[in-house]
Amino acid sequence: AGSGKFFVGGNWKCNGTKESISKLVSDLNGAELEADVDVVVAPPFIYIDQVKNSLTDRIEISAQNSWVGKGGAFTGEISVEQLKDIGCNWVILGHSERRHIIGEDDQFIGKKAAYSLSQNLKVIACIGEKLEEREAGKTFDVCFQQMKAFAENVPSWEDVVIAYEPVWAIGTGKVATPQQAQEVHVAVRDWLKKNVSEEVASKTRIIYGGSVNGSNCAELAKQEDIDGFLVGGASLKMKVSQQA
Ligand code: G3P
Repeated sequence: AGSGKFFVGGNWKCNGTKESISKLVSDLNGAELEADVDVVVAPPFIYIDQVKNSLTDRIEISAQNSWVGKGGAFTGEISVEQLKDIGCNWVILGHSERRHIIGEDDQFIGKKAAYSLSQNLKVIACIGEKLEEREAGKTFDVCFQQMKAFAENVPSWEDVVIAYEPVWAIGTGKVATPQQAQEVHVAVRDWLKKNVSEEVASKTRIIYGGSVNGSNCAELAKQEDIDGFLVGGASLKMKVSQQA
């Protein structure tokens, strides 16, 4: 870990009920969290209000998606303004499940990032390659292309955390090795240095996601360029992974 405050996000994805979430919240309220770590949870939209009203203020709340512009006649969407209205400070954008299952493309995701930031909703910007892309030696190309779309749209990186989530490691139990993750994190930081600025490269947190759990997080956190985690499955079981 190197840049900024260590960041741990729990992405609950499309999981939970009022009951299971209330249990998770009470476990989180009772957890001892290290002082120097930013902790954020991302419940499904419909439970954000419940979580906001019952969770300790020590933990911030993120949405898992947002609409690309101002709200209005967009059936089924949730606007950035609405998220802010219910006390949400963050949004996850460009998650691989939205890219590859729902079909969101780089430009759409970039525009969402621009709009969210314009309304002071902080962004967890996700990037990552699929297995076949890694096997074809295209990991860096894919990640840089996704970074480019964010960079073209983001006016300032102060409120952005980058999450590197190799698609082959998500929900598979196949965590990237600390070396594999570190290699990409360094490359992304270097990309920022060349394409944005040295300052942004050194200050922006780059967190890792993909089968992170209580037993593998310590080794990953030792890597110089791993500044935190975005945890899926394990975040539902309460064990908020902490820094080594
Ligand atoms: O956003 C976090 C995520 O995609 C990783 O999921 O279940 O592999 O920890 P999981």
